[in-house]
Amino acid sequence: MNLCRHHGGLSFTPILLSFFFFFITPFAPSCHATTPVLSESNAPKLRHSRLFKNALQHQASNEQLSDLWMPLSNQGWKPFVEPTSTSSSLPESSGYIQVFLDGGLNQQRMGICDGVAVAKILNATLVIPYLEVNPVWQDTSLFTDIFDVDHFVNVLKDDILIVSELPDEYAWSTREYYASAIRSTRVKNAPLHASANWYLENVSPVLESYGIAAISPFSHRLAFDNMPIEIQRLRCKVNFEALVFVSHVRSLGEALVSRLRYPIVESIDAVGTKYLRQVVDTKDGHGAGKFVSLHLRFDKDMAAHSACDFGGGKAEKLALAKYRQTIWQGRVMNSRFTNEELRNQGRCPLTPEEIGLLLAALGFDNTTRLYLASHKVYGGEARIAALRQLFPYMEDKKSLASSAERAQINGKASLSAAVDYYVSMHSDIFISASPGNMHNAMVGHRTYLNLKTIRPNMVLLGQVFMNKSMSWSDFQEAVVEGQRNRLGEIKERKSKQSIYTYPVPDCVCQQR
Ligand SMILES: *[C@@H]1O[C@H](CO)[C@@H](O)[C@H](O)[C@H]1NC(C)=O
Ligand SMILES: *[C@@H]1O[C@H](CO)[C@@H](O)[C@H](O)[C@H]1NC(C)=O
Ligand SMILES: *[C@@H]1O[C@H](CO)[C@@H](O)[C@H](O)[C@H]1NC(C)=O
Repeated sequence: MNLCRHHGGLSFTPILLSFFFFFITPFAPSCHATTPVLSESNAPKLRHSRLFKNALQHQASNEQLSDLWMPLSNQGWKPFVEPTSTSSSLPESSGYIQVFLDGGLNQQRMGICDGVAVAKILNATLVIPYLEVNPVWQDTSLFTDIFDVDHFVNVLKDDILIVSELPDEYAWSTREYYASAIRSTRVKNAPLHASANWYLENVSPVLESYGIAAISPFSHRLAFDNMPIEIQRLRCKVNFEALVFVSHVRSLGEALVSRLRYPIVESIDAVGTKYLRQVVDTKDGHGAGKFVSLHLRFDKDMAAHSACDFGGGKAEKLALAKYRQTIWQGRVMNSRFTNEELRNQGRCPLTPEEIGLLLAALGFDNTTRLYLASHKVYGGEARIAALRQLFPYMEDKKSLASSAERAQINGKASLSAAVDYYVSMHSDIFISASPGNMHNAMVGHRTYLNLKTIRPNMVLLGQVFMNKSMSWSDFQEAVVEGQRNRLGEIKERKSKQSIYTYPVPDCVCQQR
């Protein structure tokens, strides 16, 4: 089963595999429990030292900088906004729908949207979705800990019925109930990308008999093609309008954004000490008050799953192979290819050094402010050092906020990801080093709002980075050429592609 390649494009989403654990091990093994090999944490050497030297010295022209920071022009689309409701009442509820969602925050987000759509298809009442604890991310936060439930219910009140809790007569329908035996109210055979008819034929009867249906697994269980347009628009409405984060996540996000934009502020930390943040000297105002959000998913899970060589030597190679064996027992398709083959196919996530070179080649320089949206970087600060050298004004949650401010999200991967989502949505430019769920979510949401988003051309970059004899100017030329039309230009959704990544044309209307 090749779950990771279901969307046509490349996708490094080992998290998807987590549903193998679903309902089998209530407490899935911690992926971070393996003792790190000491030499594994040796500072990785620069892999592209010649290019790197040039990148350090390069100075962008004013013209280049002004182009880079210029917001996207109107591309002829605007978000679809429903005509104000004619307050037609909702059809009588056919029963309760429960969905159990695995994956990280951004995968669960798609599941929530699909859950609303399925409830609509069935005229059912949706129970606020249950978020599974992911074996990699280990966050036990509930839907209500992450999303503003009142807003969610309110925005969707004319579309479907939603309840936070089941009424007493159905209180038995819990995750534990389904984990302990085969139950007739559980729907566990929903095929990947099932049609609306599949739900009508297979889930409606369950609702009719029992008044409730619990669908699990549910991730990626609703098709993107051949869906009624109302259902497509409802999915967009959930994703882009109904789902907002709880207020403490939004205010922390807002604080981070404002510290990125106006770095000359005097701030007061939790214990009352005043501090001044560094002033950024931007060239002739280009990029002043602006920032790039860089999503760097480069944790051990991802590094191991990609099966690529990241230049950390033998110790790193062995450590990643061992991790692969422990977690996926040889089921990783990528390990059938050589490092060279993987790079040629663009299947390797960019390292911090490589994403730095890409940004430099595009024209960003050492005055650019970067926000690093990242969970844990495999190899730690040593691996980030090259990127930081190119972009000394690189910030993250830790550098921008006090520990008191971060207290509510500390140790919570989903809440942390929510803050990164918020900041990234408010950045002038977004770029991701690997095409995973966060990348897809951002590409979709930012397209919907016509915000600049760099989609790295992974195949081109994979090939270019293997050529050790390339000069800086050839590299720069190749990158600029390879990134043409990948800087936020609208790409319409093709058959089988996700509506959440490509919301045009389903979620927008054409502007005259
Ligand atoms: C940026 O790079 C230029 C040219 O290499 C250098 O003169 C300058 O000191 C650098 N600025 C920072 C903040 O590192
Ligand atoms: C849902 O309600 C609508 C409007 O009342 C009705 O036309 C449709 O057949 C119902 N569908 C199901 C699956 O009950
Ligand atoms: C590497 O890049 C140079 C241009 O800088 C090019 O002439 C050469 O053919 C490339 N080598 C390979 C193996 O692609």
